[in-house]
Amino acid sequence: MPAQGFLGTGASFRADMNLVAQVLMGVTLVAGALLARRKLFTAHGICQATVLLLNVVMIGWLMWPSFQQQVLPPLPEHLGERYYAVAVIHAMLGGAAELLGLYIAVVAGTNLLPQRLRFQRWKLWMRVELVLWWAVIFTGIGVYLLWYGSTGLP
Ligand code: HEM
Repeated sequence: MPAQGFLGTGASFRADMNLVAQVLMGVTLVAGALLARRKLFTAHGICQATVLLLNVVMIGWLMWPSFQQQVLPPLPEHLGERYYAVAVIHAMLGGAAELLGLYIAVVAGTNLLPQRLRFQRWKLWMRVELVLWWAVIFTGIGVYLLWYGSTGLP
């Protein structure tokens, strides 16, 4: 039996902690974007990269195992149900946001990639990433509400 959460929804402690951590990390990314606006680029890079790497840990430790156990096995017969469909959309957008973030971090922070694989329009891609990231947070909140809200039965 997983430890009881603290948000009063009947979700596990892990799910509640993930929800709070994800919203805090999303707010931190917005704060990090404001650092770039003030031309504090080193602080900006450290801030965004820290959130990005922390989220790799959250995905590997919590979200991927949950997806693998709760969503993947029943998926073929149940994709049409909201409970699973929202989780699949969330996982695909979340995977894309994490990969795009890692790519941006490698281009912005290192010289590992050859010129033809590097983008020039830094601001554009970073803005796209921030918007995508928040869309993923909202779909994650959707998963949380569907799974643990008052109608949270599959
Ligand atoms: C930028 C990347 C991501 C963000 C910001 C994000 C955010 C969130 C948020 C806010 C929740 C709700 C809290 C919860 O129910 O635990 C959540 C849940 C979840 N996410 Fe993500 N997520 C991301 C990537 C992913 C990826 C790549 C996967 C799939 C491999 C995934 C699968 C899940 C699953 C299965 C849940 C429900 C976990 C549970 O409650 O047991 N997420 N996510």
